[in-house]
Formats: sequence, C-alpha cells, structure tokens
Amino acid sequence: MSFLRLHDVCAGYGQADILRGVSLELEAGTVTCVIGPNGAGKSTVLRVLSGLLKPRVGTVEFAGDPVGGLSPAVLLRKGIVHVPQERSLFPLMTIWDNLLMGGHSLRDGALARRRAGEIAERFPLIEERRHERAGTLSGGQQKLIEIARALMLDPRLILLDEPTMGLDAKARHAVFETVKSLNEGGRTILLVEQNARLGLSVSHVGAVMDMGVVRLVDEASKLLGDPRVAALYLGGNPDTRANGGAARAQG
Ligand SMILES: Nc1ncnc2c1ncn2[C@@H]1O[C@H](COP(=O)(O)OP(=O)(O)OP(=O)(O)O)[C@@H](O)[C@H]1O
Ligand SMILES: [Mg+2]
Repeated sequence: MSFLRLHDVCAGYGQADILRGVSLELEAGTVTCVIGPNGAGKSTVLRVLSGLLKPRVGTVEFAGDPVGGLSPAVLLRKGIVHVPQERSLFPLMTIWDNLLMGGHSLRDGALARRRAGEIAERFPLIEERRHERAGTLSGGQQKLIEIARALMLDPRLILLDEPTMGLDAKARHAVFETVKSLNEGGRTILLVEQNARLGLSVSHVGAVMDMGVVRLVDEASKLLGDPRVAALYLGGNPDTRANGGAARAQG
C-alpha cells in the first residue's frame, strides 16, 4: 500500500482546468521530487494535497484513508504540512514566535514550547537569532525557519514547494542538507524543485509533470541519466546560474 496515492486527480481554478488526471504514488520514508516546466501544475498538486484546493475528480489517499477535498486544518491534523513556494514567515515577529506559530493548532502552549526547543536544537540559526525579527533573515535563512516551523506538528508528510528558489549555492546546500536529514529521521517528503539536478540528487524518486499530468516517474538516479529529461530539465551546471534557470524548461 502506498503512503500517499493520487489517482486521476483533476483540479483547477475557476473555469480553468489545470490538473488533468494526475496519478502519483509515494512510499513512506522516501523523498520524491516533482520537476517540470513553469505552469505544469506542480504547485497545484501540493495545494490539492494540503487542502487549499479541492479536487474536482479523482482520489487522494493518505495512509490508507481517502483525504481528497478535506480542509487544510484536518489535513494538518492528519500530518500533512505544506511549505509553500512564496515566503510565509511573519517578518515583524521574532524567529521564535514564528516557530511557535507552527504549533498554534496544538492548543497546548507548553507542548508547543517544548517542541520548539527540540527543533531549535537542530537548527543553530534559531538558537542564535531567536529574538530577532524574521524579516532580518536572508531568503535562505527564512526558508530554513519555514521548514523548522513545519516540524512543529510532527508531520508525517512534508510538501516542499521550490524551497531553493532564488537562493545562492550555499543556501541551496543548507536547504538540501535539511531535507536529507529530515528524511533520514523518517519523514516522507514531496519536493517540487526548480533545480532538477539538485532536487533529483537528494530524492529517491522523480516525477516529471507537464501540462497538468505526470508524464514520467522513475528512480531519481535513472531520471538524472535519462536523455529526454536531461535535454529538457538538466541543461547546464546549476551552480553557475543564479537561479537554477536552466533547470526550468519553458513549456
Ligand atoms: N490562484 C490561481 N488562479 C488562477 N490560475 C492559477 C492560480 N494559481 C495557478 N494558476 C495557474 O495554474 C497553472 C499551474 O500553476 P502552478 O502554480 O501549479 O504551476 P507550477 O508547475 O508550480 O509552476 P512554477 O514552476 O512556475 O511554480 C498556471 O497556468 C497558473 O497560471
Ligand atoms: Mg510552482
């Protein structure tokens, strides 16, 4: 049984159909990287999984239960957290308070503070700068805090949407090291990544999306060596480009 299974999912915004029958399965404890051109529907898949968008057709199963169309709050309680593509910290609040906000729905301040303390032990940045405003952090540092905040509910599935967007090589490295260590701690991760080569290099499985469907799923190492994927998504050395630009084929 798959840990997460999407079958023939269709979804969209208003009149627009964006997902046109997405099927994808994730095994527990794996990292799966979704790559594909701008507008392919990658973020839309994550929005369906976190309940921000309801599927019109198709099924979503998580740990054996149907979860398609449930609200974000219910899906959070089931253990699915979403770190969205856009920045989402509260810039005027301290780093520590941002972290605590991730545990708001626990409705138990003592538990939230204990969890935040445990998380801070693994993120030196939090220990060092907890009393500073989040808005004073660099983009890469903010992304690390967003990921740390997502851990407050002890999630079983983490949805990470383009966590290295706009980051330099050093910050990208820090984000990917964090992804690896979360996975080594047993968490299942669905990663959308603009930088296909780097994303696949930290993943077990890769899925290529285009025009609202998943076109190809394979072991990440095989996708890295697949000439079709290389031609479309892996051109150039990502570390020589400010924003991983070559990894994004224009659809
Ligand atoms: N809130 C919205 N309202 C209307 N259309 C939207 C909305 N969000 C996304 N879309 C459209 O849905 C399509 C898929 O968008 P989505 O954000 O899922 O793509 P993506 O694969 O994540 O792209 P990118 O790599 O640029 O992040 C695009 O054509 C986009 O314009
Ligand atoms: Mg996106």
